[in-house]
Amino acid sequence: MRVLVTGSGSQLAAPLTTLLAARGHTFETASHAEVDICDLESDRAAVTGFDAVVNLAAANSVDACEADPMLAYDGNCLGPLHLARAAREAGVAIVHFSTDFVHGGLESPPEYYTETTVPAPVNVYGHSKQLGEAAVAAAGGRHYVLRTSWVIGDRFIGYVRDSIEKGKLQIPPVGHACPAVAADLVAVTVRLLEEDAPSGLYNVANPPATDRPALLRTLVSLLGGDPDIVVLGEDTRPAARPTHSALGVDKLAGVGIHMPAWQDSLQGYLSGEPSSLHT
Ligand SMILES: NC(=O)c1ccc[n+]([C@@H]2O[C@H](COP(=O)([O-])OP(=O)(O)OC[C@H]3O[C@@H](n4cnc5c(N)ncnc54)[C@H](OP(=O)(O)O)[C@@H]3O)[C@@H](O)[C@H]2O)c1
Repeated sequence: MRVLVTGSGSQLAAPLTTLLAARGHTFETASHAEVDICDLESDRAAVTGFDAVVNLAAANSVDACEADPMLAYDGNCLGPLHLARAAREAGVAIVHFSTDFVHGGLESPPEYYTETTVPAPVNVYGHSKQLGEAAVAAAGGRHYVLRTSWVIGDRFIGYVRDSIEKGKLQIPPVGHACPAVAADLVAVTVRLLEEDAPSGLYNVANPPATDRPALLRTLVSLLGGDPDIVVLGEDTRPAARPTHSALGVDKLAGVGIHMPAWQDSLQGYLSGEPSSLHT
């Protein structure tokens, strides 16, 4: 496959391109400065000649989106709409990422949200990503919208390492969800494309659901730190966050992709092992 990766400043770009190369695919990457996905003509020129485009571009700062909704709706809705339209016109498949933050507003939430649970975002970011999902589907080409959560890649791990050095990792006390280890997330991306899975929306995360302190204490321990450096602080962030947004992955299992437990994946990732989804 020839694959274009947009939004290449994302922490998913390195594991994705490493995996594409290992699987014998060719790729090009485009940073925000090279291709602004909001520019339809630029998208049309960029996707020409590829079999697939993987869109990592997003307005991803939840609080910046709350303060500036246009930033959110441009980057997370208009941009994906234009890119998916350009892809459909050129016969190019698109993989686009969304978020568990489309959930959180239901009075009686399920233990695990499925792809058919009605979204109820609690902030502008979540709403803009919900509209982006619909926009990619509406463009009408071959598409995979991957709803994911708590991405654990090199940037996040670097932040935790820095906190271990400082001896303190203070976090807000909210958040019960499933993390997604970057190696597994990009493995799912490549498998859906390689296996020509049915188009649609897929939840992609590593079970079981956990809360943020438990996840961080495990990660700190695996990195050789003292888990007691993780302490709960007040939540002073301007935008609301979902308190529970665990994504169920049964639909993915239905196409033969069985997500490993996050504890196993995390250990493998930190040891530099490839995702078990490709071995
Ligand atoms: N990180 C998480 O925990 C998490 C959780 C759930 C879902 N996701 C989803 O996973 C995907 C990747 O997330 P990430 O954390 O890796 O993102 P990220 O590090 O914030 O990277 C996003 C990239 O998109 C670029 N970008 C923004 N607007 C653009 C535009 N209009 N055109 C082209 N590029 C643009 C940004 O460039 P500039 O910085 O130069 O603007 C940045 O390099 C996103 O769709 C995100 O919503 C992430």
